[in-house]
Amino acid sequence: MNEEATEKLDPAPDESHRVTTTGDIEVSTYLEIAKKIGGAQPAPAKETMPVVERESIVVIDFGSQYSMLITRRIRECQVYCEMVSPETPWGKISSLNPKGFILSGGPASVYEAGAPLAPAYVYESHLPVLGICYGMQVITKQLGGRVTPGTKREYGHAVLHLSEVDSPLFVDLPASTPVWMSHGDQIEQMPPGFSALAYTENSPLAVIGSDGPIFGLQFHPEVAHTPEGKKILRNFVYRVCGCKGNWTMGNFIAESLASIKKAVGGGKVINALSGGVDSSVVATLIQRAVGDQLTCIFVNNGLLRREEVERTFNVFRLNLGMNIILVDASDRFLKRLEGVTDPETKRKAIGEEFIHVFEEEAQKIGKVDFLAQGTLYPDVIESASSSTSAPAKIKTHHNVGGLPARMTLKLLEPLRHLFKDEVRQVGLQLGLPEEMVWRQPFPGPGLAIRIIGEVTEEKLEILRSADWIVMNEIKKAKLYRQLWQSFAVLTDVKSVGVMGDFRTYGYLLAIRAVTSEDAMTADWARLPYDLLARISNRIVNEVPGVNRVVYDITSKPPATIEWE
Ligand code: XMP
Repeated sequence: MNEEATEKLDPAPDESHRVTTTGDIEVSTYLEIAKKIGGAQPAPAKETMPVVERESIVVIDFGSQYSMLITRRIRECQVYCEMVSPETPWGKISSLNPKGFILSGGPASVYEAGAPLAPAYVYESHLPVLGICYGMQVITKQLGGRVTPGTKREYGHAVLHLSEVDSPLFVDLPASTPVWMSHGDQIEQMPPGFSALAYTENSPLAVIGSDGPIFGLQFHPEVAHTPEGKKILRNFVYRVCGCKGNWTMGNFIAESLASIKKAVGGGKVINALSGGVDSSVVATLIQRAVGDQLTCIFVNNGLLRREEVERTFNVFRLNLGMNIILVDASDRFLKRLEGVTDPETKRKAIGEEFIHVFEEEAQKIGKVDFLAQGTLYPDVIESASSSTSAPAKIKTHHNVGGLPARMTLKLLEPLRHLFKDEVRQVGLQLGLPEEMVWRQPFPGPGLAIRIIGEVTEEKLEILRSADWIVMNEIKKAKLYRQLWQSFAVLTDVKSVGVMGDFRTYGYLLAIRAVTSEDAMTADWARLPYDLLARISNRIVNEVPGVNRVVYDITSKPPATIEWE
C-alpha cells in the first residue's frame, strides 16, 4: 500500500505558534518562539559510526543519454558508482578505489576521426571492464577487433539468446530474454581472445567476453525495456568485479560525518534553509557532524505556502534542536515586488532581495567560514558538461549561487555525489519527518511565480487557500508522492460567473499537476475526473474571489512546469 494512505493532514497549528511581523524585517531567534511553544530540545549527540572502505565502479561516459542511468542502476545494487569523462586522469580514479569499469554508450562511431576512446588505464589496470553499445565497440577497436557500419540499424526490442550459459554475467538469466537495442555500427570481428556469448536475430555478436575479464554488450542493460538488465549489471559488479555491496545510506552518513568534521574543524558554517528536501538533509547532516557550529538562516519571504514557516521552523528547532535564525522579511519582499509583472524581473528581484537579507543576517553571526549547499549529483554532472553543451537559459533559477564568491565563503556540499532518491533515504535515516522527506519541489521564488501579474497580499491569500485545497485533496487521494508537483496558479484573467442569484466576476484559477523524472521533461498528470471535480468545487466554494477553475493539460516541452 502506498504509505501516503496513512499520511494525516495536520490541522492548522495553534495561533500562539505563529510568527508575527512587526517591522520591515523581524528577526525571531528560536528562543522567543521556543518559549511560547514550550522550550527547545538539545541538539542530538554527534554520531560516531565506523567508516567502511570505499569500493566503486567507474563509468567512462562517452555521451550517452543513458550514462547517468547506468550510474543509478549500479548504486541500486549497493555499489558506489561515479561517472567520469574519458579524459579523467588515473590519479582521480584511483582515489575511488575502483573495482571495475563500465564504458557507456555514445553517439559517435569508433571509426570516425577523433571518436572518444577509453584511457589506457582501463586496460592496464587489469580490472574488469563492461562495454555497453558504443563502449563495446570501443573495446573491440582498441583491443584489435573490427567495427563496421551495420547494414541494418537495430533500434528497439530484440530477443537475446544465450550461447554460453555458464558466463558469470548470465547467472540466474533465462535462456532467451528481451533486450533493448539502439545501434547502427556493429562488431564484424572480435578482438583476439574474445568469444561470442549471446546473439540476437540481427546481431550475431550481441554479447562478447574474454578472460580479461572484459565483456561487451550490444544492447542497453540499464533501461527498463531490458527486464533482466539489472541482473546482468548486478552479476557484473558482484560476480565479475567482486564488490561487497557496502554503498548504503548508513555508510554514506558515517563517511560524510567524518569528512564534514575534518573539513570544518573549528570553523563556522551557515546554511540557507528552505524546508525543501535537499537543504533540510544538508542542514541535518552538518548539524550531526559539527553541532552548533552550524547556523541555519530561514528567510520567510512572504511567498511561502500556508503553514510552511511554522512547520519548517518547528521541525528544525524543536524536533531537531537546530541552531536556526528565522527572518521574517515578507514586507520587504512584497514591497520590492510592487508593480512588477514581468516574470524574469520578478525572479531577479526576489533573488537579489534574498541575497541582501541573507548577507545581513550572516554578518550578525560574525566570522563565518563555510556556506552549506544542497547541490546534488545531477547538478554536478550537468554543470561539468554545460561548458560544452550549455542549453539555452529558459528561466533564471533563484538560488544562493552568487553568495559564496560575494561573501568569500568556502562551499560545503555533502550531497554532491547523491541522487535525489538517495538524499531522501539519508533524510529518513537521519530522522527527518516523512512529510519533509517526500515534499514535492517548490521553487525558490515561491508563490510569486504562480501569480500571473503583480503579486499582492490579497492574491497571495487567494492562492494560499486554493493551493491548500489542492494539496490536501491530492494527499487524500494518495497521489502526492506519485506526482512530481501539484499546485494552483492564480491567473490575472477574470471571468463572469453566477452564484445563487448573483452575477460574479472573479479570478480564473488553474491547477497544474505533472509527472516527471527530473523536471527536464514532464507530462500533465491524468488525475481522476472526480478528484478534479472535488478540487474545483471546493475552491469555488471556499476561496473568495475565484469563480472558475481550469486544469492545465500541457506537457513540458512545450510548456514549462511553473507558469512564470
Ligand atoms: P520549469 O518551470 O522551468 O521548472 O519547468 C522546472 C523545475 O524547477 C523548479 N523551479 C525552480 N526551483 N528555483 C528553484 O529552486 C527557481 O527559481 C525555480 N524555478 C522553477 C520548478 O518548480 C520545477 O520543479
